[in-house]
Amino acid sequence: MADFNGKVVIVTGGALGMGGVTAEEFAKAGALVVVADVNRDAGEAIEGRIRAAGNTSVFVEADVSDSSQCRIVVERAVSEYGGVDVLFNNVGIQPPTSYQNVEDTPEETWDRIVGVNLKSHFLMSKFVIPELRKRGGGVIVNNASVQGLQSQPLVPAYAASKGGVLSLTRQMALDYASEGIRVLAICPGTIDTDMVRTVAALEGGDIEETLERYGSGHPIGRIGTGQDIANLVMFLASDAASFMTGTHVVVDGGFMALGAWAGGAGATQD
Ligand SMILES: NC(=O)c1ccc[n+]([C@@H]2O[C@H](COP(=O)([O-])OP(=O)(O)OC[C@H]3O[C@@H](n4cnc5c(N)ncnc54)[C@H](O)[C@@H]3O)[C@@H](O)[C@H]2O)c1
Repeated sequence: MADFNGKVVIVTGGALGMGGVTAEEFAKAGALVVVADVNRDAGEAIEGRIRAAGNTSVFVEADVSDSSQCRIVVERAVSEYGGVDVLFNNVGIQPPTSYQNVEDTPEETWDRIVGVNLKSHFLMSKFVIPELRKRGGGVIVNNASVQGLQSQPLVPAYAASKGGVLSLTRQMALDYASEGIRVLAICPGTIDTDMVRTVAALEGGDIEETLERYGSGHPIGRIGTGQDIANLVMFLASDAASFMTGTHVVVDGGFMALGAWAGGAGATQD
């Protein structure tokens, strides 16, 4: 495990899901972790768990699609821990009610999804970069999705937001490489979190069986875990990845390698 002793790490959407696991893993590796999340109960719970394990964390209740709340998160990191070294722009939403084509997508739904999934990455980066500069550099890891690379039907706002995260990642990497600030994105496939369980529940039936079925569609034979994501984010944020910037890493059990054609007309599966 990489050593993050004394490093200050901000995780947005860090109370639950893959952000939560990553926040706990950074704390175990010695980081001082700022968890920013809208969910106060879950945020206080993770802060309590990290502290009970003898590690360091503070929860800041914030909606990171809002500029003034992003500013408060960064100010809190500086006042509590003296600066920022790593930002994991993890937050993202895919409300079950948003599965619609463009014509049927309400403007408010578009604004909310793009606001949380893309604008928050811009805002948090905007306020964190001056702090990284003061430390002589740092790392921003953005959570995109395989849906930034290929599409499934009826997710126009989500797909556009994730494509935007990949473009923003490349842009920031270019603009700040000379200052020792590396910017990377991850593209998870299906990961076992509340977000995926909510989607699985829409199918009716037993959720565990549905998740197993999702897993069997992946070459590796299972869906991913928060730990799979934490392992990757911590590698990218570590000095072991010091020559990496401006790119994305797919973490999907081989799903993108499979290709959509594999289940389509003319495919042979024997
Ligand atoms: N789960 C998957 O299969 C999957 C796959 C690819 C990409 N992703 C991406 O990974 C990231 C994390 O997803 P997850 O599955 O862990 O989600 P999740 O829904 O399990 O957890 C998301 C967390 O973000 C918080 N949050 C939501 N809106 C917020 C806001 N406006 N401000 C602050 N916090 C907010 C929630 O309270 C929650 O704690 C997202 O960007 C998502 O798009 C997920």
